[in-house]
Amino acid sequence: MDYELIQLRTVSDENPKYGSLCFMESGHDGKDISFEFKRIYCVYGVDAGLHRGFHAHKRNEQLLFCPYGSIEIIIDDGKSKESVILDSPKKGLVLHAGLWREMIWIKKDSVLCVAASEYYDPREYIRDYSEFLRYVADKENN
Ligand code: TYD
Repeated sequence: MDYELIQLRTVSDENPKYGSLCFMESGHDGKDISFEFKRIYCVYGVDAGLHRGFHAHKRNEQLLFCPYGSIEIIIDDGKSKESVILDSPKKGLVLHAGLWREMIWIKKDSVLCVAASEYYDPREYIRDYSEFLRYVADKENN
């Protein structure tokens, strides 16, 4: 399936009381993420057990990470589904275009951050699951 789970680079202070810092860089020359970001957003204030997402992107590539809490991401390529749990600030999930996703808030107030390759454009979303399956079939036939 067209996604990657990556470990974000992390620097921890010698004194654990000062915590850690993790970071990512984008670019084509061996950086953490192959695409450049045009947009960053985060989703917050969500109750436990709630589901968001239910869409795919035609062009937009994204890096998802959860700096606080725990969120399950269900990824669907139209043939099968896989699940990834983002429960550490160090985990980054790269979702390439053409994947249906659903996000489940395992812990209340978990924060989902997204770095996206494209500006917001509702026309490049697929929000209807039957349309998504047709899109996958069309891509296979071309
Ligand atoms: P949506 O992408 O559907 O969020 P989720 O997948 O987490 O459920 O976006 C929710 C709403 O926010 C929708 O009305 C579109 C709007 N939105 C923007 O205006 N700009 C953005 O960059 C994003 C990601 C969403």
